Amino acid sequence: KMRKVVSVIGAGNVGEHVASLLALRGLVDVRMFDIPKKDGDRIIEPVKGKALDIRQMLAAIDIDAKVEGYTVTPEGEGYEALEGSDIVVITAGFPRRPGMSREDLLEKNISILAIIAERIKKYAPDSVVIVVTNPVDLMTYAVYRILGFPRNRVMGMAGVLDSARFKTFISQEIKVSPKDIHAYVIGGHGDEMVPLISISNVGGIPLINMLPREKIEELIRRTRFGGGEIVDLMGTSAYYAPAAAIVEMVEAIVTDNKRILPCSVFLDEEDGEYYGAKNVCVGVPVKLGNCGVEEVIKIPMLPEERQMWERSVESVKRNLKTVEELLNARS
Ligand code: APR
Repeated sequence: KMRKVVSVIGAGNVGEHVASLLALRGLVDVRMFDIPKKDGDRIIEPVKGKALDIRQMLAAIDIDAKVEGYTVTPEGEGYEALEGSDIVVITAGFPRRPGMSREDLLEKNISILAIIAERIKKYAPDSVVIVVTNPVDLMTYAVYRILGFPRNRVMGMAGVLDSARFKTFISQEIKVSPKDIHAYVIGGHGDEMVPLISISNVGGIPLINMLPREKIEELIRRTRFGGGEIVDLMGTSAYYAPAAAIVEMVEAIVTDNKRILPCSVFLDEEDGEYYGAKNVCVGVPVKLGNCGVEEVIKIPMLPEERQMWERSVESVKRNLKTVEELLNARS
């Protein structure tokens, strides 16, 4: 098999944009999976329609890539076509509505992802899995536990998106291309995420030399609530930037380009020694390549950043017990 296959489970707002962006790059073949919907009395299969629409888009602009849509059931039937997937992206589940926190989605989304993870384990046991469903750090942990894959093949998407948001705001403020802005946001994907100011820079110049402290604080605040800002405006959660962030991760893996991107990964004993946190999935900078997470980077932190990091990890850990209970109740 020459071309890599990326399966996207959940072809809603985020999933369909991932599929279309991946297809537009012409780098991989894409398989989309979603449940049937109701249109009045009629049962429809949007996932097949979306796949067809994307294929026709490719024909219109002369790009070669295969895109297929598969209807599955919430009970987990119809996942045979996962076979042969190099990467599986999970976006299935419920998104936030105004007034909801990501944690409000926990119970419902775990029950959906538990079934999906079982199918991935059965049909694509060698794949690299990217979890997107929120609350993402907890979902990544749950999927990691159910899959039993080595930890390098399971990761959550959050940091690339949060960093893109931070870069957007910095770029708008100082009127420099986001390409020349380096900024890492680590920690849990929540209000206590940790933008690392000490290592953020614009064209190599530390951010702290470019903007007054209060301005930076304001941009951090906007980054932390960047998801909520969009939920309030659109009535549902963001999808263009999340999809692009996923594509960035997928591309790093399929092209083996060894990019350093913040991803939510399971921290083991050794990471624990540096990060002071283990047995939890949380955002850290990692090196991505063919094998998935090839290295967890030990990023330097100032004492106050380390404090923020610890608070952020604590807030992820607070809900980990609930996750364990839900997982135990299933087995
Ligand atoms: N099996 C497969 N697909 C499912 C299932 C299931 N059991 N349950 C729901 N889905 C599908 C829905 O049919 C829908 O098409 O998941 C898709 C989710 O899409 P949206 O509702 O549009 O949500 P989206 O904005 O794409 O967000 C998906 O990513 O960013 C996170 O917080 C967000 O958890 C949310 C997820």
